[in-house]
Amino acid sequence: MRIIRTIAEVREAVREARIQGGSVGLVPTMGAFHAGHLALMHEARRSTDLVVVSLFVNPTQFGPNEDLSRYPRDEARDAALAEGAGVDILFAPAPAEIYPDGFATTIHIAGITDVLDGASRGAHHFDGVATVVAKLFGIVAPDIAFFGQKDAQQVLVVRRLVRDLDIDVRIQAVPTVREPDGLAMSSRNVYLDPAARRQASAVNRALAAAAVAVEQGEREAAVVMDVARRALDDAGIVPEYLELRTADDLRPVTTLTGDTLLAVAAHVGAARLIDNRLLRVS
Ligand code: PAJ
Repeated sequence: MRIIRTIAEVREAVREARIQGGSVGLVPTMGAFHAGHLALMHEARRSTDLVVVSLFVNPTQFGPNEDLSRYPRDEARDAALAEGAGVDILFAPAPAEIYPDGFATTIHIAGITDVLDGASRGAHHFDGVATVVAKLFGIVAPDIAFFGQKDAQQVLVVRRLVRDLDIDVRIQAVPTVREPDGLAMSSRNVYLDPAARRQASAVNRALAAAAVAVEQGEREAAVVMDVARRALDDAGIVPEYLELRTADDLRPVTTLTGDTLLAVAAHVGAARLIDNRLLRVS
């Protein structure tokens, strides 16, 4: 595996792979790898010839009161894990390589970024995500890019970015990887002390309880949400948001009629956790 710091060198490596007729896969990340990140890398390894993983803690998607400065960073560990997953190139640029002096462009995707994490964290968050992902697509020009369903709204934002700007890349969503007790893997789980870590398992329990209600025929959003809210309540968790929205464009739902996303964000101990569950209704 090569660790590359410059855009010019990544372009050159990708160009060589393309001359040989190889396909290119991209896994964008901010590092602090866990089994969720590794699942994306394995999927990329299975589906493409040259696997590029970007490791860049993107400052523009963090708010002024968020965790940019304390975000976990350990490049040597990440490099070893990526190499073990069969990654070819770890692209780990310095901030000035991505945002040189005079950088002046922001991509804003309207509508679907006004709700859930866009509303909670502010517009800057998905503006920052869309802008850096567009840049990574411009740098690597992958055939397929891999994103985790754990960040369901991010997947929708990236799909809209690609569609609206005619970027020639396939977006593949990968299922959420969970701890044995159901907690979605996240780089931010390291912020949880043992008590908060135990409490955190209620987030997935709440989603699962709601899913059971839907499987048993419940279609009223208010009732489904109550089921989830009660499970959070029992664990002493007050959600930042807990919402049911259409899975394809995040419109509000009062009666479940098609694929519906149940999305939750909550502060547990020192961590802000997000999770979601796709409720399939036919
Ligand atoms: P990061 O949080 O490092 O996540 C990188 C990728 O891993 C994202 O696509 C995310 O959805 C996926 N992922 C995280 N936890 C997962 C889990 N438990 N199961 C499956 N996939 C999981 O998301 C970002 O970075 C950034 O916003 C980025 C897209 C890199 C832009 O800066």
